[in-house]
Amino acid sequence: MICLGIESTAHTFGCGIVDEKGRIYANIKNSYTTEKGGIHPTEAKIHHENAKDNVVEDALKAAKLRLDEVDLISFSHGPGLPPCLLVGMRKAKELARKINASLAGVNHCISHLEIGRLLTKAKDPVLLYPSGANTQIIAYEAGKYRIFGETLDNGVGNFIDAFARHAGLGFPGGPKIERLASEGKNYIELPYVVKGMDVSFGGLLTNLKQKYDSGKYKVEDLAFSMQETVFAMLVEVSERAMAHTGKKELLLGGGVACNKRLQEMCRTMCEERNAKFFVPEKEFLADNGAMIAWQGILQRKLATKGYDSIDIGPYERTDDVEVNWR
Ligand code: ATP
Ligand code: FE2
Repeated sequence: MICLGIESTAHTFGCGIVDEKGRIYANIKNSYTTEKGGIHPTEAKIHHENAKDNVVEDALKAAKLRLDEVDLISFSHGPGLPPCLLVGMRKAKELARKINASLAGVNHCISHLEIGRLLTKAKDPVLLYPSGANTQIIAYEAGKYRIFGETLDNGVGNFIDAFARHAGLGFPGGPKIERLASEGKNYIELPYVVKGMDVSFGGLLTNLKQKYDSGKYKVEDLAFSMQETVFAMLVEVSERAMAHTGKKELLLGGGVACNKRLQEMCRTMCEERNAKFFVPEKEFLADNGAMIAWQGILQRKLATKGYDSIDIGPYERTDDVEVNWR
């Protein structure tokens, strides 16, 4: 069985092709970026409109498959930006209709986790999922992926991007901040905001902007201190989730998980508590179509040809989904 999956929740339009053994035939993406401003939903939607046909065509080409050799179509139905989600859903329906295939809408956050399990062979991990719009610590308990901790305001990626934008660095800010941070030497004290199992970045952002505007600090030092502070917050709650659940594996997923310093801090924490640390390749950490195709395979029982009954779910939460595939 071959599934073609479409991702379009935010800045990336992606198409992946995967079979039921988890073999990945193609994973093509085209992302919307800007020089200075942040992500604008309408512009991202226009980007996706322009990119969608080529991305799907390129994925089929890379997989050396014709569309009619695909058995199943899946798409990311949420959470995400509604204008972007609609482009993905419409493309998915168009393809499904063309070949009379079943169609499944899947949860984006869970897809990040499941592609990580597939690729790293982690069995029952705690997932630290820091991305642009989301920041969650997730683990499987009693039939659902439960959220053990999460951000109370912005996703950590949006927070990093917002500071980067303030400093005139453009979007996405994460990789640029990582580069600057590697040149920072002086640790500057910043608010460390962990509340129970949750984290929050709003106050931190205000504080960082004030420090930047004061002109008293080098941007390299601010980037370095920001990374040390927020990653320590994320590692602390991840460790506590592992202690509470008794799980012995930590898995990373989401765009911010590309950050080498975060990976290093997670690895150190896991070594200290005798746990295993897993991180898939970069290509599968950030938003991608392959994870949506694999989730389509896992949830193939959900797929239907009643296309009109299928809609987007922009606000769907990770723990809304019944997990019946593991
Ligand atoms: P989601 O819909 O899951 O919230 P997303 O649409 O925001 O995800 P992702 O590709 O998962 O997209 O993540 C993008 C985010 O990752 C951006 O905020 C970007 O700045 C951040 N990011 C990418 N690389 C790095 C890095 N090296 N260090 C820190 N942040 C990074
Ligand atoms: Fe994502």
